[in-house]
Amino acid sequence: MRTFTTIQSLQEWRKSLPKGKTLGVVPTMGALHLGHASLLETSARENDFTLATIFINPTQFNQSSDFEKYPKTFEADLAMCEKYGADAVFAPKDANEIYPDHFQYRVSEHQFSNELCGEFRPGHFEGVLTVVLKLLNLAKADHAYFGEKDHQQLTLISGMAKAFFLETKIIPCPTVREDSGLALSSRNLRLSAAEKEIAPRLYQVISTILDVIQAKEELTRLGFRVEYLIDKPETTGRRRYVAAWLGDVRLIDNVRI
Ligand code: PAJ
Repeated sequence: MRTFTTIQSLQEWRKSLPKGKTLGVVPTMGALHLGHASLLETSARENDFTLATIFINPTQFNQSSDFEKYPKTFEADLAMCEKYGADAVFAPKDANEIYPDHFQYRVSEHQFSNELCGEFRPGHFEGVLTVVLKLLNLAKADHAYFGEKDHQQLTLISGMAKAFFLETKIIPCPTVREDSGLALSSRNLRLSAAEKEIAPRLYQVISTILDVIQAKEELTRLGFRVEYLIDKPETTGRRRYVAAWLGDVRLIDNVRI
């Protein structure tokens, strides 16, 4: 497996891939777990080559403390990438590599990005969409893999790909959960032992208590601070989105109901 820290070395590798072979890209911020691994595995199965990217994108954090506290497990991440089938990893050393324009140029969306997580994390999706567009332009992949765990993010990225006629196909991947139902997340590493006991109730409550007010009350009773719990219609059926804090850890999840 190759590791690149500069755009130039990544682009040289990209150009060296044989014509007619497919490339899948899996963008991540590191602290990789089995949720990321499932994206890597799917890409490795569906493509001739797989590129993982590891970049803790500063522009999508609206609190610098959250950015600074983001877990960093680089050596273990490289081992995971290799184990689950990546042929190469792009891990830029600093933000200037990705933002030579100092974030002067940005991708914005004016509807869904202001709802749910976007309402509570202003500017978050502008940072996400901008970095994903940059990464997709660099990778020139046939397929890009994103998790349904971050369903709002997946929806916005799919919308951007369509709006800008991107040639990379966006592939949704199902949420990977612990046996308890807790969705795997890099942020789970920051839960205390006591919080880890309560955390699985988030998924259990949102998937079993259909009334929104009752579900919120139950989460509050269990010790969560609910940021939002909202049902949204989809083409068929509805999806329920939730964000809730346990101590200083913010958990998000979503289910089809
Ligand atoms: P990150 O949180 O590292 O997640 C990288 C990818 O892994 C995302 O597509 C996310 O939805 C997926 N993922 C995380 N946990 C998952 C789980 N339990 N099951 C399935 N997929 C899971 O999301 C980001 O990074 C960033 O916003 C990024 C898109 C890389 C842009 O910076």
